[in-house]
Amino acid sequence: MKFFMDTAEVESIKKANELGMCDGVTTNPSLIMKSGRDQKQVITEICKIVRGPVSVEGIGDTYEEMMKEALEFSKWAPNIVVKLPMTKEGIRACKSLSEKGIKTNLTLIFSASQALLAAKAGATYVSPFVGRLDDISEDGMVLVSDILQIFFAYDIKTEVIVASIRHPMHVVEAAKLGAHIATMPAEVFEKMFKHPLTDKGIQMFKEDYKKSQDAKKK
Ligand code: E4P
Repeated sequence: MKFFMDTAEVESIKKANELGMCDGVTTNPSLIMKSGRDQKQVITEICKIVRGPVSVEGIGDTYEEMMKEALEFSKWAPNIVVKLPMTKEGIRACKSLSEKGIKTNLTLIFSASQALLAAKAGATYVSPFVGRLDDISEDGMVLVSDILQIFFAYDIKTEVIVASIRHPMHVVEAAKLGAHIATMPAEVFEKMFKHPLTDKGIQMFKEDYKKSQDAKKK
């Protein structure tokens, strides 16, 4: 399973990258706003740090607006992926961009039918938002499971990015289902490392080592 960082915070991306755990990055206009930086500036910086795909999202509503934004984004770096909204216009743009060899990530996917449409339009990635479904008392992982079942049945090449991840168990559940990618905020990535018994065990081994060294000295 590939791990993407769902953030526009360069320092968090660098940290995950240094650990060899950052296979790509996803951003959206809200994450860019949170970073407090200019979109082009921060995205080009991220693209230099990370070798893998970096998703960038515009705000265009129409096919023409989306195409204009996408063609501009794709000039920024070779690893740019254009994020498109799951609308009819987005699907049309997805088809045109995939014909031009520009990678796309169909975002805000909340149903299997939307994922199927995106795949048929040649999307490189689809992003089902599990956390936002869980937030409204639906089961986000059921959606991921449905999409994967369809994609595996037809050997569809579109990869599933499990998005809107809220906690490490979302990553684990997505991995159990065989999802290609989990994109996660830095806080979730940090939490994946933690277990109190690991910390306790390390502490205990250190103390016992010290005790055995002290006993040798006597
Ligand atoms: C995915 O590409 C999105 O950036 C992200 O996962 C949205 O998650 P949220 O529901 O936490 O905003």
